[in-house]
Amino acid sequence: MTTIEATALTKVYREATTDVVAVRDASLATAAGEIVAVMGPSGSGKTTLLSMLGCILRPTTGTVTIDGQRVWDSDERDLPRLRRRYVGFIFQSFNLFPALTAAENVEVVLNLKGLDGRAARREAGRLLERVGLAPRLDFRPRDLSGGEKQRVSIARALAGDPPLILADEPTANLDASNGEQVMRLLREAAAQGRSVVIVTHDHRVAPWVDRTVLLEDGRLVA
Ligand SMILES: Nc1ncnc2c1ncn2[C@@H]1O[C@H](COP(=O)(O)OP(=O)(O)OP(=O)(O)O)[C@@H](O)[C@H]1O
Ligand SMILES: [Mg+2]
Repeated sequence: MTTIEATALTKVYREATTDVVAVRDASLATAAGEIVAVMGPSGSGKTTLLSMLGCILRPTTGTVTIDGQRVWDSDERDLPRLRRRYVGFIFQSFNLFPALTAAENVEVVLNLKGLDGRAARREAGRLLERVGLAPRLDFRPRDLSGGEKQRVSIARALAGDPPLILADEPTANLDASNGEQVMRLLREAAAQGRSVVIVTHDHRVAPWVDRTVLLEDGRLVA
């Protein structure tokens, strides 16, 4: 079972005149099957922390270990491969390709992970069916509702079956019922043995998660 372990993560953004310490000395470990919510006000460092967990942003100090591998000790050129293998990302603003259909948005990720042609098409259909979007395969993002777009992005995050799902404010742009649907799908993803970390300031997610930690001014305080 894949777990992710972050130890003493600190991120300092060096600006022209000041250094911004966005995350300081944060340690966090997840278990397979569990959803951890990182809560905290705007600017507290949530996105920064998630980006370091997801092999996107190099910590200034500290380590991230996935499957026993210290991510940031690897060769820079290995990071995209680690990211593809281990991490599925979900964003507040969906980040779908506007010119591609729902199915194609999922297919491009599958292509990156080595699945091509008809096999990718079939797998994209299966993933979208799982999130309730079988009737929307050929719709482009502009013709989908916010909740539907977020479900496409969940299907895309699950493409290639990564063991870690990281979500940045996945419910922030959604009404209560669409937010619940998203959390139900993340619950399902966890139940299949994945680790899910969501960062949010949406208190509606509380009943859906196993554990909440609080980020305040870059520090994990609980
Ligand atoms: N690329 C950057 N360069 C400099 N400072 C940054 C950069 N990205 C974030 N920061 C600063 O780091 C701090 C944490 O930002 P971050 O985006 O991680 O917060 P957040 O908790 O995700 O906020 P929000 O809830 O508004 O999304 C903020 O003070 C922000 O201004
Ligand atoms: Mg953020």
